[in-house]
Amino acid sequence: MAAEQGQILVIATAAVGGFTLLVILTLFFLITGRCQWYIKAKMKSEEKRRNHLQNGHLRFPGIKTYIDPDTYEDPSLAVHEFAKEIDPSRIRIERVIGAGEFGEVCSGRLKTPGKREIPVAIKTLKGGHMDRQRRDFLREASIMGQFDHPNIIRLEGVVTKSRPVMIVVEYMENGSLDSFLRKHDGHFTVIQLVGMLRGIASGMKYLSDMGYVHRDLAARNILVNSNLVCKVSDFGLSRVLEDDPEAAYTTTGGKIPIRWTAPEAIAYRKFSSASDAWSYGIVMWEVMSYGERPYWEMSNQDVILSIEEGYRLPAPMGCPASLHQLMLHCWQKERNHRPKFTDIVSFLDKLIRNPSALHTLVEDILV
Ligand code: ADE
Repeated sequence: MAAEQGQILVIATAAVGGFTLLVILTLFFLITGRCQWYIKAKMKSEEKRRNHLQNGHLRFPGIKTYIDPDTYEDPSLAVHEFAKEIDPSRIRIERVIGAGEFGEVCSGRLKTPGKREIPVAIKTLKGGHMDRQRRDFLREASIMGQFDHPNIIRLEGVVTKSRPVMIVVEYMENGSLDSFLRKHDGHFTVIQLVGMLRGIASGMKYLSDMGYVHRDLAARNILVNSNLVCKVSDFGLSRVLEDDPEAAYTTTGGKIPIRWTAPEAIAYRKFSSASDAWSYGIVMWEVMSYGERPYWEMSNQDVILSIEEGYRLPAPMGCPASLHQLMLHCWQKERNHRPKFTDIVSFLDKLIRNPSALHTLVEDILV
């Protein structure tokens, strides 16, 4: 009997011991497993956060983001990341069509094996340049090479391995939008003008989706092809403003095209897609007035003061009221109240589909 009790005691002790060990082991695996799961989840969310933020801009999955070439330690690596090197034997320069800050702009032809020749514009970097000038010159190609949109000027490639250094882009037969409109004053239907504006807005929507802020959106920086398609050009951040004859020095030392620039960008350099939307409103006004100078011959200082007091450009002659309303919307002091480029594109699309909304002119409302 005593032996039997002893056996039961041994079995019971072993069972309790085994069970306790099992509980301890289970708890250990649960806790360490959970820890690992927690660590993994935290790493994932950090990775996600990083993926959603680039150049300080919110990224959206599936949409490519612009990379600032200045974030490369060696900017000459950036240009080859985003631009194809072209063998100069494929380029035929035909004539000089303009002068840029860095050298001549020429028209010509580019031959690609197996494809037919295409007309191109060739920007050259004049000889005797410094490393800094070469870097600033090629920055534009590093930016342009990241874009692929029908309303953004297309980069064909660069020549960097021989002299002169060149940037080769698609040729735009009608040149810059401001001079094109001045040359053809009153020649287009409102629908044609709205079509041009729609193209520019679509290019700007693409740029803002990529997190790129243009800072110098103006009709002089839009190019027009033979089909009246308008494309945004002149990229290069600070360089763009150095090169722009309209850009003036502010009291704080910045160089800014005052008439095209939002008040917060002039006052404290707050450039954003919302300040680009202000400039877009000015481009609308330039287009509807066939290349008139915004604020006419007013001085920069008077423009700044008038805007501060609430003055806004009136509708150009023959401008539909709905378009002037959109301009005024772009010129709201509070930048978050301005329309997004996506809103502008859909608004203009609706106008194109239902042109009856374009029949009310501002002068019809005023009389
Ligand atoms: N002037 C500057 N760039 C040009 C281009 N791509 N086409 C025509 N003229 C231009």
